[in-house]
Amino acid sequence: MEKVRVAILGCGSRGNAHGAAWKQLLDVDVVALCDIDPERLHAAGERLGVARRYADLEEMFACEDLDVVSVPARADWHFPLARAVLEHGVSAVVEKPITLDLREADQLVDRAGAQGCLLAVHHQNSVGPVQQKAKALLAAGAIGELRCLRGECKGYYGGFGMMETGTHILDQMRNFGGEVEWVQARVTVRGRDIGAQDVAQAPRGLGLVAGDHVTAYYAFRNGVYGTIESFYRPKLESRFSGVDLIGTEGMLCWRTGGNGLYLVKEPIGNLMGGASWEAVSLSEEDRRVPGTDLISDDSGVWMAQEMVNALRQKREHACNGAAARTVLEMILGCYTSHACGGRAQLPLLDRTHPLQRLCEAAGVPVPEFRVSTDAEFLAAEWARSGR
Ligand SMILES: NC(=O)c1ccc[n+]([C@@H]2O[C@H](COP(=O)([O-])OP(=O)(O)OC[C@H]3O[C@@H](n4cnc5c(N)ncnc54)[C@H](O)[C@@H]3O)[C@@H](O)[C@H]2O)c1
Repeated sequence: MEKVRVAILGCGSRGNAHGAAWKQLLDVDVVALCDIDPERLHAAGERLGVARRYADLEEMFACEDLDVVSVPARADWHFPLARAVLEHGVSAVVEKPITLDLREADQLVDRAGAQGCLLAVHHQNSVGPVQQKAKALLAAGAIGELRCLRGECKGYYGGFGMMETGTHILDQMRNFGGEVEWVQARVTVRGRDIGAQDVAQAPRGLGLVAGDHVTAYYAFRNGVYGTIESFYRPKLESRFSGVDLIGTEGMLCWRTGGNGLYLVKEPIGNLMGGASWEAVSLSEEDRRVPGTDLISDDSGVWMAQEMVNALRQKREHACNGAAARTVLEMILGCYTSHACGGRAQLPLLDRTHPLQRLCEAAGVPVPEFRVSTDAEFLAAEWARSGR
């Protein structure tokens, strides 16, 4: 069987991580790298042992025959770079979040379909070994019937945190809960409801956001419900961040810190009765990457192999563009719900950014796109909100 030919477009820290994951797979050739920054390009080339290096995307496509391009680049570059890849009839693995707004996400999903290409979004936790173990335990009845999913972000800051880690957490929730019917949310800053004057450009090129605290309730079509909270912590806490699966007979807790899974074998109402929890360990078989002999705990490796398997089996990737677009709707739906004071049905009917609409309705200028650091963003937020 011919090897899958992969290129990496963007050679920052994530480009190196994608490259290292692809390189572990036997039936993959990482044939080329591309970055407009020559220092990063050559450093990644040396680190990954890839000789064919390009400063220009179009030149790379002219010279290389590719099956997949990884797009590990800043969030605002996801749309133009992934679109360029798809235009060449090549499948793309783009970093999270899929795009900054739903119109861009719609275009990518449609383009992938029209070109007969796969579009995957790097919500790697949803395909990794820990989540497969959680799914297996759930299916085996370890926590009884699933009732509720509780998600918590790392502490980046309200709306910014939703686009940063919330996207991973919500993808996990969607993965366990299934189709989302509606969202109801409250978005606040310093304890008061946000208004148009609170809309800001997130750091890291993550687009329009608002609020230092987002609390949302999701109704999944199968009757399960989910909640998520994103608020500011002075120190980021991946120990508390993750998803709890709460069932009639117990609870499974996945934590981003250490990618750990914990099992409580008592109904949650009985925790005061001395219920204990145990860390779930994964056997060698649990850690075997599907379709290979490789043993790996690295969800990035599982994500890459899932792309190979999806291409070979002519099916969608588990973390496909449409799923990631739903995750973006789960985030933007919070603002839609907050603005109307009620439920926002998914998929959202209006594909424009709800915070842009909030500003326009109030006659407040929409903040112009800019890329800032986390510290610059927080300083501006605190100066504005009087913290
Ligand atoms: N999945 C995860 O667990 C995870 C973790 C952290 C970050 N991320 C995501 O990774 C992304 C950021 O990755 P990063 O920190 O490595 O980004 P980065 O900005 O440091 O690197 C991106 C690289 O892309 C290059 N680039 C930009 N435009 C280009 C073009 N037209 N042609 C060629 N090269 C181009 C830049 O020069 C840069 O070197 C974000 O989307 C973030 O959300 C994901």
